[in-house]
Amino acid sequence: MTAPLRQGELVEPTVVQVALAERAYDIVIGRGLLAGLGTRIKALRAGARVALVTDESVARHHLAAAEAALKAAGIDAARITVPDGEGSKSYATFEKVCEAIIAARIERGDLVVALGGGVIGDLAGFAAASVRRGLDYVQVPTTLLAQVDSSVGGKTGINSRHGKNLVGAFHQPVMVIADTALLDTLPKRQFRAGYAEVAKYGLLGDAAFFAWLEKNWQDVFAGGHGSGSFAREHAIAVCCRAKAGIVARDERETGERALLNLGHTFGHALEAGCGFSDRLLHGEAVALGMVLAFDFSARKGLIAASDAERARSHLAAVGLPTHIKDISGGLPGVNELMDLIAQDKKVKRGKLTFILVRGIGQAFIANDVDASEVRAFLAEKYHDA
Ligand SMILES: NC(=O)c1ccc[n+]([C@@H]2O[C@H](COP(=O)([O-])OP(=O)(O)OC[C@H]3O[C@@H](n4cnc5c(N)ncnc54)[C@H](O)[C@@H]3O)[C@@H](O)[C@H]2O)c1
Ligand SMILES: [Zn+2]
Repeated sequence: MTAPLRQGELVEPTVVQVALAERAYDIVIGRGLLAGLGTRIKALRAGARVALVTDESVARHHLAAAEAALKAAGIDAARITVPDGEGSKSYATFEKVCEAIIAARIERGDLVVALGGGVIGDLAGFAAASVRRGLDYVQVPTTLLAQVDSSVGGKTGINSRHGKNLVGAFHQPVMVIADTALLDTLPKRQFRAGYAEVAKYGLLGDAAFFAWLEKNWQDVFAGGHGSGSFAREHAIAVCCRAKAGIVARDERETGERALLNLGHTFGHALEAGCGFSDRLLHGEAVALGMVLAFDFSARKGLIAASDAERARSHLAAVGLPTHIKDISGGLPGVNELMDLIAQDKKVKRGKLTFILVRGIGQAFIANDVDASEVRAFLAEKYHDA
């Protein structure tokens, strides 16, 4: 363990490499990295101009510092600000961002910088993938979800009226800079939702990390105060290392990468059932979805009920929803939920693909799950709720 840090004290950042041959890149994790954004960009690509894409809330908190950091390194940056929220992953906003990048005369060899959460990363990344048939881009994630998940791995895109993330591209960033201090301004509920994805890495493949989280989660939340700074950076680095490994082995999700969808089949259905509204944030839906995946695994006799309870009680301890009844304002019925699950995962002859578990940290891909079994399970859950 490192000694407690004083405010503003600089520590060596952690660097995690994403090993993708000619598309390899570094994820740099540390507190206070935004101040060095310009220096890092200049070192990566001397002379490059920058289009800085962000949303209104992030701009309010962090745009001035980001622009100052670029200016200090002599980098010329155009600013592109879009409204907050999932609504910006739309054709209309995508068009605006692309046109603004072109108007700013950002060319091959220049850089798009995504400063924001998963919405900005997905949107700006897709614009970068599209303008001039592909510009390089840098991710500067500002939410916990983005730092541990969406900024790494190169999935970019926007939403279609038929569903989320249906229009997009695989386009890897050339660098990810995760400044953990940026999370200090994140609303607590957003931080908690992102934490569901942190816990996911433990639950899907790293039992020791899950046990560490059970002991240290409060320090991860506190961040920057005493030993908390180390804990937050450590947790983010563990998640990035896990995701980097999976992405390097299975960039296009033909196999192992699907494990990252633990809790997401149930989760997406619940999110969709709530109309992707503030009633249930993505991470909250994932927390509930993971509990359901563990309970379903227990029902199938794959794990002990005590394992499922251990997963649930940790998520509940940090304040995430873990019972269907925790969702405010009513829920879609079992039939609607089953329809949503079937839409999300193609049903092949009544069989569904789910990520199930053989224990904490032992997720696997089960592609022969009976739809009728899932229906019976959900009906029981509704009955309990
Ligand atoms: N590409 C991928 O692999 C991948 C993976 C997971 C999720 N996603 C996508 O990520 C999106 C969700 O991302 P998200 O949870 O980061 O949401 P988000 O980007 O909408 O951010 C959540 C809210 O927090 C605000 N915010 C962001 N950073 C802040 C900060 N530091 N201080 C104060 N406010 C801040 C934003 O303005 C927004 O209102 C979804 O669209 C999802 O589909 C993509
Ligand atoms: Zn997710």
